[in-house]
Amino acid sequence: MIEELKRRAGEKAAEYVKDGMVVGLGTGSTVKYTILKLGEMVKDGLDIIGIPTSIATEKLAREVGIKLGDINDYDVIDITIDGADEVDRELNLIKGGGGALLREKMIAHASKYEVIVVDERKVKEFLGAFPLPVEVVKFGYRRTMRVLESLGCEAKLRMKEGNIYITDNENYIVDCKFGVIKSPAELEREIDNIPGVVEIGLFINLVNEVIIGKKEGIEIMKKRSNPL
Ligand code: 5RP
Repeated sequence: MIEELKRRAGEKAAEYVKDGMVVGLGTGSTVKYTILKLGEMVKDGLDIIGIPTSIATEKLAREVGIKLGDINDYDVIDITIDGADEVDRELNLIKGGGGALLREKMIAHASKYEVIVVDERKVKEFLGAFPLPVEVVKFGYRRTMRVLESLGCEAKLRMKEGNIYITDNENYIVDCKFGVIKSPAELEREIDNIPGVVEIGLFINLVNEVIIGKKEGIEIMKKRSNPL
């Protein structure tokens, strides 16, 4: 069932992509459905350039026939579609469960419109039940972990099959269990001040729209417009 909810959200987002667009391609098992759908649309004549957020996405996008570009050549990306590990009702996110947070954040920052696709389990009142991924340089990582812990979390070095997990950018990831994060923007600033931290999986004010795959169908959350 969860797979069906992911597919619903992922495929819906593909409808936003139009001819001639430069499209940021996110990473993960939900946005995979967007990429597969875009592959079908490209076969039917859609002309787009994809900017992948990870090596895994680059590979998948190539396999389905999406033309790819280099972020260095595009100051502005028309739309990016990506997944998330947690979303709150302000459209703030925790990302990085799949380890691609650095490239995902760079591409989100370059995007005119950022769309997030999730299944309904990911929507939370407060962020923080999902341990916050923080990408750190290898140099001094154990010290960096202690500094992270001094902010009130339990910090765990990410492992994969018995080895330290290495990101696409040759860094490590520390998963930080903070519990409820009441002030995500403040926490992001605090972590950002730690030397050795490369990027943080908090995405604040970067998202325009969230497409939620639910049992009953699809819900869309949009950035609240300015009431003035
Ligand atoms: C990768 C991410 C993913 O978008 C996030 O982990 C969600 O993935 P999935 O759709 O597989 O649950 O942030 O860095």
